[in-house]
Amino acid sequence: MSSEMQKDSLAGFQPLFKSFATDAIHVGSEPEQWSSMAVVPPISLSTTFKQHGPGKHTGFEYSRSGNPTRNCLEKAVAALDGAKYCLAVASGLAATLTITHLFKSGDGILCMNDVYGGTNRYFRKVASEAGLDISFADLTKLEELKTGLKPNTKMVWIETPTNPTMKVVDIQACADIVHKHNKDTIVVVDNTFMSAYFQRPLALGADICMYSATKYMNGHSDVVMGLISLSRDDLYERLKFLQNSLGAVPSPFDCYMCNRGLKTLHLRMKQHFKNALAVAQFLEADPRVDRVIFPGLPSHPQHELTKRQCTGCPGMITFYIKGKLEDASSFLSNLKLFALAESLGGYESLAEHPAIMTHASVCEEERKKLGISDTLIRLSVGLEDEEDIIADLDQALSAALPKK
Ligand SMILES: Cc1ncc(COP(=O)(O)O)c(C=O)c1O
Repeated sequence: MSSEMQKDSLAGFQPLFKSFATDAIHVGSEPEQWSSMAVVPPISLSTTFKQHGPGKHTGFEYSRSGNPTRNCLEKAVAALDGAKYCLAVASGLAATLTITHLFKSGDGILCMNDVYGGTNRYFRKVASEAGLDISFADLTKLEELKTGLKPNTKMVWIETPTNPTMKVVDIQACADIVHKHNKDTIVVVDNTFMSAYFQRPLALGADICMYSATKYMNGHSDVVMGLISLSRDDLYERLKFLQNSLGAVPSPFDCYMCNRGLKTLHLRMKQHFKNALAVAQFLEADPRVDRVIFPGLPSHPQHELTKRQCTGCPGMITFYIKGKLEDASSFLSNLKLFALAESLGGYESLAEHPAIMTHASVCEEERKKLGISDTLIRLSVGLEDEEDIIADLDQALSAALPKK
């Protein structure tokens, strides 16, 4: 991986990926591709494209199967992931659905047990209804992965760090075990939390890297989108067919917006990391807080793995407030700068209560097992001034738990 990296690194993490910012700004946006030489890729709204003769087209026929603005975005993301290909789809869950359509009834999928609630719901309640054999395991424990792999396992689904308990999975170790078990079993990494700036799953042995681009990749909380990056030709051909056949494609406008978001991904992620580290240190030192989970802190159980696997950490912090559900609710209701809202990865700070909000679709027993308790709070630390972010958390903690 070293030749792909440059020497600058953030706080003892892996060196940053070489030419990341240059690629984000230029790849896919070359003015020479347009007769107008437009520096900013135009939004190509046309649903259909004129052909010179039947079957003689410019590479575009119908906007579901291919769109110039979507192409620009897909090229940029492939470069940022160190991938040969990227496919943009209508949402993160549409990416999960499209990838899962590679398989048929009776095929097995082994999924990390702590994943985004919607992923959990899709596998348990939709894919399993279609006859797929879904099982879950704690993939931070490689023994659980080994025992979880079955003769019919066709896909292993990793999310790292996990949502919301921020467990870090060793991608390289998992990919080695899975491919040793069966070289055709694919390893998929949901890279939504880290973004392409902090983690390259394909370089660590994964077959597919996917995103809810709704989060950091777009970064402005104004687009719902999914991205799938990969380098294997056979898988790409099949997924490209599925992108068109399932039809869950994003609009050209959203592709334009997401591509615009990518141009500042490197700047945003560095600042998210800086702000989050300051917030995590503040919370960890605060007596009103029971425990902070942030992979960038030495207290995180997989801090060393995170430093080995990533170039930094995003703005995602989970913490347990002291007290009960009422105290967590009071804290959340008293926040002023942070918006109490689902989602994450935008420039603005957000806070949420996973047990009641994002992970309500995960059954109570499972939530208990995973540590998604009534006092667990998830923060998406934004790009506001560090001291204002901390002051807001401090005043909301004081309002919820007045006796320090
Ligand atoms: C880690 C992760 N993966 C996938 C998704 C689903 O993405 P979308 O909401 O874009 O469908 C989310 C959404 O919150 C997420 O947080």
